Amino acid sequence: MALWGGRFTQAADQRFKQFNDSLRFDYRLAEQDIVGSIAWSKALVTVNVLNSDEQQQLEAALNALLEEVRASPEQILQSDAEDIHSWVEGQLIEKVGALGKKLHTGRSRNDQVATDLKLWCKMQVEALLGATRELQQALVVTAEVNQDAVMPGYTHLQRAQPVTFAHWCLAYVEMLARDESRLQDTLKRLDVSPLGCGALAGTAYEIDRQQLAGWLGFASATRNSLDTVSDRDHVLELLSDAAIGMVHLSRFAEDMIFFNTGEAGFIELADKVTSGSSLMPQKKNPDALELIRGKCGRVQGALTGMMMTLKGLPLAYNKDMQEDKEGLFDALDTWLDCLHMSVLVLDGIQVKRPHCQEAAEQGYANSTELADYLVAKGVPFREAHHIVGEAVVEAIKQGVALEALSLAQLKQFSTAIEEDVYPTLALQSCLDKRNAQGGVSPQQVAYAITEAKQRLA
Ligand code: ARG
Repeated sequence: MALWGGRFTQAADQRFKQFNDSLRFDYRLAEQDIVGSIAWSKALVTVNVLNSDEQQQLEAALNALLEEVRASPEQILQSDAEDIHSWVEGQLIEKVGALGKKLHTGRSRNDQVATDLKLWCKMQVEALLGATRELQQALVVTAEVNQDAVMPGYTHLQRAQPVTFAHWCLAYVEMLARDESRLQDTLKRLDVSPLGCGALAGTAYEIDRQQLAGWLGFASATRNSLDTVSDRDHVLELLSDAAIGMVHLSRFAEDMIFFNTGEAGFIELADKVTSGSSLMPQKKNPDALELIRGKCGRVQGALTGMMMTLKGLPLAYNKDMQEDKEGLFDALDTWLDCLHMSVLVLDGIQVKRPHCQEAAEQGYANSTELADYLVAKGVPFREAHHIVGEAVVEAIKQGVALEALSLAQLKQFSTAIEEDVYPTLALQSCLDKRNAQGGVSPQQVAYAITEAKQRLA
């Protein structure tokens, strides 16, 4: 039976009931609903709605239910209860009889669902923080063993300047560190308890809401009841954290997909995260990475969807807000899965150093060095840039690298060029020189690895 039958003389149309019910997705809030209910029962003792004996009975029954739910959460789906709040209350009444009917005194499903969802978010954020750090750790480990793996760095997907595989890994560590700090910011703002705000105007029982918040592990209680039951900023913030996090993972995936192509051949992915073709026997496809890249779309969709659901909603609670859950659950599940999958992909990659090195040596990635060399000889940079451009055209015409041009040939472009130009053009020198903070020099990369390790320890 619905929680609100008294006002109605006709039963709900089955089609409407199906349309309206949320149990099939909000059953995931069962643990939070039970924990919130235990805290509420304690609050009811402080305002003499329950005596402590009654409270203990309720608490024992709710704890028993918690055990059952933990053992098999899917059992909830067998019920035709409207939502998880109705289900928990129904189960409680089945266990303790009429006493169970006292629990909802002074409480509304509006402050209840807001509380449940925030408790769930807090739990999920912990899991996401853990996974974000795990991936950073995996990237640091990969960086550490690939400090001397030189490969081309790109802009416009054109070979630009040499970098190392380690430096590339550390770039993603930075993105993930920002994702981590975004989650922590979100956590701070969402750590405020809605319970005790009633339907919209506050509860009529003089409950100490700060104390209640403390029992539930919240840092404090909200300040305005109207806002509390209609606020879903934490959902928006988490979806936005997820949207940005997934953009990062999709770029990570795309880079790796490219590195793994026959054309680039910088890495080889492990068999355990690739799949074959039903037709072409030679294929080994980077499905794990393509799915990470692809799943980014649905997470962006969830954020946009929720923004639109909330836009223009009048205060306070409206049923529109029930639409907050499916998108949030899916987006955060997807993000967590993709973080885990990224760790798995990194675990078995093989960096093909000779190939990376060869590619870094081609494509005139040391042109900037030649320009800097001329600058050191007193040529203004703009002029040096032009001179090197001409030298590159000539080298391309001959089909050779810059350093393969003879000194006599190079001198045709600038008389400032001497024999000492050749060491400058070596790949290692290109790396060594970039020694300002954040650069690709071995020293900077080693420092970045140590620093990241300390932060992640
Ligand atoms: N299932 C509802 C939701 O998820 C619970 C709150 C219902 N409140 C109400 N006034 N009908 O939003």
